[in-house]
Amino acid sequence: MFNLILFGPPGAGKGTQSERLLEKYQLAHISTGDLLRAERAAGTQLGVQANEYIAKGELVPDAVVIGMVRNYILEHTDASGFIFDGFPRTVAQAEALDTMLEEFGAGIDAVLGLEVEEDELVKRLLLRGQSSGRADDQSEETIRNRFQEYMNKTLPLQSYYTEQDKYSGVPGMGEIETIFGDLCSQIDQVRS
Ligand code: C5P
Ligand code: MG
Repeated sequence: MFNLILFGPPGAGKGTQSERLLEKYQLAHISTGDLLRAERAAGTQLGVQANEYIAKGELVPDAVVIGMVRNYILEHTDASGFIFDGFPRTVAQAEALDTMLEEFGAGIDAVLGLEVEEDELVKRLLLRGQSSGRADDQSEETIRNRFQEYMNKTLPLQSYYTEQDKYSGVPGMGEIETIFGDLCSQIDQVRS
C-alpha cells in the first residue's frame, strides 16, 4: 500500500492535484469534504448535522469524520493505496488514521503540503464559489473562519508529520502542471 496525505489550507489545490495524482499512481481518493457534501445531498442525519459546521466554516467533530473515513477504507480494501485530501484535519484524526492503517499493516508514507499565500487562497475560493455553488466558498467571513480553524487545529499536523520525517512542503502558487511535477518528484523519491 502507498498512502499519501495532501496537506494544505482551503483553496491550496488539494482536490485539483488529487485528481491527477490518483490517475497517475492508481490510488483511491478520499476527500472528506466531498463525502460530507454527498451525505448532505443525500439528506442523511450525518449530512444534516455536518452542514451546521460546514456552513459556519467550522470543523465537524472528530468522531463523525473518523467514522466516515473508516467506512470508506473498509469499502475499498482492494485499493493499492489512498490519497487523503482534507483529512486528517486534527491531531486526533491523524492518530486515529495511523491506528486504522496499522490494521492493514500499512501507514502514511508521505505528507505533501501545498504552500500558498493567504490572499491568493481567498481569491481562489471566491472564484471557485462562483461556479461550485458552495456557500462556504462565497462568504469571505466563512472563508476566514475556515483559515482560523486551519491555523488552530490543522497546522499542528505539520509538526506531527515532520517529527515522523514524512512531511515535505511543495510550492503551490504557480502553474497546475508545474506543481503536479513537483508533487510527482517527491512521491517518486519516497516510492523508490
Ligand atoms: O475539505 P473541504 O475544504 O472540502 O471541507 C469543507 C468543509 O467540510 C470544511 O470547512 C469543514 O466544515 C468540513 N470538513 C471537516 N472535517 C474534515 C473535512 C471537511 O469538518 N476532515
Ligand atoms: Mg477540496
